[in-house]
Parts: sequence; C-alpha cells; structure tokens
Amino acid sequence: ARRPRVLSGIQPTADSFHLGNYLGAVRNWVAMQESHDAYYCVVDLHAITMGHDPAALRQRTRVSAAQLLALGLDPERCTLFVQSHVPEHAQLGWVLSCITGFGEAGRMVQFKDKSAKAADTTTVGLFTYPILQAADILLYQADQVPVGEDQRQHLELTRDLAQRYNTRFGPTFTIPSAYILKDTAKITDLQDPTAKMSKSASSPNGIIELLEDPARSAKKIKSAVTDTGREILYDEENKPGVSNLLTIYAALTTRTIDELLEQYDGRGYGDLKKDLAEIVVDFVKPIQERTRAYLDDPDHLDKVLAIGAEKARAVASVTLAEAYRNIGF
Ligand code: ADP
Ligand code: NA
Repeated sequence: ARRPRVLSGIQPTADSFHLGNYLGAVRNWVAMQESHDAYYCVVDLHAITMGHDPAALRQRTRVSAAQLLALGLDPERCTLFVQSHVPEHAQLGWVLSCITGFGEAGRMVQFKDKSAKAADTTTVGLFTYPILQAADILLYQADQVPVGEDQRQHLELTRDLAQRYNTRFGPTFTIPSAYILKDTAKITDLQDPTAKMSKSASSPNGIIELLEDPARSAKKIKSAVTDTGREILYDEENKPGVSNLLTIYAALTTRTIDELLEQYDGRGYGDLKKDLAEIVVDFVKPIQERTRAYLDDPDHLDKVLAIGAEKARAVASVTLAEAYRNIGF
C-alpha cells in the first residue's frame, strides 16, 4: 500500500533550534521518514511576516536546513526543501486567498493573539499566513499533517478551503487530516516550568539551544528552577520543574520515566540535574559537529536543497496546473 503523505514545516526565525523543537517536532519528522512519504520544508516565506533582517533570514534558513540534516533527516528518504525555492506556494496561496472569507480569516485566534501583542508591526502577511500554510499542505496532496494544539484551527481552515475548492471547481485537492503524534514531548521553560520552552522565552536561561556552547546548556540544566520538596516525583501539576527534567531525560535516553523514578529514588535534585546535564551535552555535541560540517560545505548544502526543491516542484507543479485549470486559467 502507498504510504500516507505528510507535510510539515519549520520557520527559520531563530539562530538555533531549541530542545522543544527537537523533542516536540523534528524527532517525529525523523521517525516519519520510515512510515510516511514525507515532505519537510523550511518555511522562509512565513518568516517575513513580522519584520526581519535579510542577512539573518538567509543565514537562519541555511542553519535550519543544516540542523535538520544533522538531526537525522535523510534526503534519500524524505523530501527536504526551502519554501521560497518552490514558487508554487505563493502562487497557490493567492488563489486560495480569493476563496477565503475575510471574516473567516479574521477568526484565527493565533492572529488575534500575535497582532494584539505587536500591533505596530502587524502585517497583512501575518493575517493571511494561514492561507499560505493551506497552500503548503494542499500543493503536496498531503494525507496527514502533524499538528499541535495551536495549529488545529489552521488545519481546519485548510480542510475547509480544500473542500470548498473541490466543490466549486471540481476535484483538485486531497483533504488532509490531523496526525496525532504518538511520541511527542512537551518541553517547558527551565526557568518558568509552567510555560512552554520557546524562542520567545523571557529568559535565555529557560531554553536549551542545540547550537549554543554545551557548557552553557549544562549550566542552564543545573540552575533549572525545581520545585519545593526534595523528592523526585513525576507530577506535572505540583512539580512541573522536576517533571520537565524527567521528560527530557527519558526522551534523550532509552529509559522510561518509571525507570528514572526508580533510579533516583531517595536521591536529590542535584544528582538528577548533574546526570541530565551530561546527557544533554553528549546529545548536542555530535549534532553541532554535523551541523558545522554541512555549513562548512556550502556547495554540498546548496545541492541537497536544490535536489529537494526539484523533487518538491515535481509534485507542486502538477497540483498547481490542475488547480489553475479547474479555476479557469
Ligand atoms: P517556538 O515556540 O519556539 O516559537 P515554533 O513555534 O517555531 O517554536 O515551533 C516549531 C515546532 O516545534 C512546532 O512543531 C512546535 O510544536 C514545536 N515546539 C516548539 N516549542 C516546543 C516545546 N516547548 N515543546 C514541544 N514542542 C515544541
Ligand atoms: Na526513553
């Protein structure tokens, strides 16, 4: 049987991925190479909606691609590309924007949140970004899209637009469904363990960046905010700090949380942090080396991304031609 096709993207909006990006997203992308016909893109078109620096964007796009390769994406087993290399995204995005109701787009809660926080820099692009995201998905006739809670509404919009297009203009798009990840970890901020680890964290000590000095990561783990009491228990509600450390520990090793609880029974937070710091350092070091190797060979990286874009375009151009024909172009 044909493998289900999956599409997912990540924005090049930081100098490094953080541990949450890896454990919550990229780790699953790596696994899905085996079970899916996987399309992954660095979504640079989405990274210009809030104001940006061109040189930084160019660099972050390359670093993002290099990190994805270093983390285990294999261009032989998936299609990895940069969104702006495939012009069909913007082309289909326009067409879809013309079948999206203004009020319908206005109901997106992520836009309301983001624009409320940054009214001065809010752009029309930020408003229409879920429509471009719909184009990203529908261009590849994706069967499944891995989504976290915050993306659910956007996937609903994508499904509505696909259905509407098919009804009005004839069968064109596969209706994608949400793919609920089995093995995903929600990582929280090391300094504020009730908030998610995020590049927009209030303190740089709250996030582990994969490309930062590993000694710095170790220090951050050791000074993570833990909870009152001394016992190492897994209790997200009452012990979010310790629970987060256990989640990271289990995710990066072959051990389960239950096995860790047994291993650390009667021991203190200090022991746990010290061991986890070492595990994180051992995890990031080879990733940093591989990332550097990709960045040190720009011709090779360019070639990998050019081949990825070509594979992506082979699918995207067929879908766009069909969509254009059906709409009357
Ligand atoms: P950020 O929240 O740092 O801005 P993004 O929104 O760019 O990160 O997220 C990129 C991917 O990483 C998404 O698939 C998202 O679900 C995942 N992700 C981000 N932060 C976390 C986290 N703390 N725990 C688990 N997954 C996360
Ligand atoms: Na584990």
